[in-house]
Amino acid sequence: MIHRAVYPGSFDPVTYGHIDIIKRASQQFDEVIVGVLTNSKKTPLFSTEERVNILREVTKSIPNVKIKSFEGLSVNFVRECNAQVIIRGLRAITDFEYELSMAQTNRILAPDIDTMFLITSLEYAYLSSTTVKEVAAYDASIEQFVPPVVSEALRKKLESRH
Ligand code: PNS
Repeated sequence: MIHRAVYPGSFDPVTYGHIDIIKRASQQFDEVIVGVLTNSKKTPLFSTEERVNILREVTKSIPNVKIKSFEGLSVNFVRECNAQVIIRGLRAITDFEYELSMAQTNRILAPDIDTMFLITSLEYAYLSSTTVKEVAAYDASIEQFVPPVVSEALRKKLESRH
């Protein structure tokens, strides 16, 4: 059996914190599928296609990572992928309640699928896509937070909105 995990999220945009989780998960599983949520309640800055393309670019050196987009419930996507595990990163106690309710809900919907949490590396514990977008909007440097391809894409996106 292929030991496969899905790492679902918005990735709007992907940060070094997400990449850290992807790398570490790829060392624990035969294959990791990063699932980019399309129909989120949040309105994303980047389109699904843009988020998928950026993720493909920044993970291209990790052979057992695949990037896909999905709509609807994460657990259904996990089943479609023939995976057994959902991966999520936990940064701080503030993430816990949301992650717990999501994991419990997913477990009720799909008792055969387990959620596993990786604790975000300390250097990225403060990092979120939202804060990256905010810092970028004020024209400050975001090179410590995201790979160059993301800062370039963010710069272009924000320019086009002015
Ligand atoms: O990166 P995010 O925004 O924290 O990721 C949230 C995500 C995509 C994992 C979550 O919103 C999700 O799984 N959405 C799909 C809908 C779903 O399965 N809901 C049931 C769990 S409450």
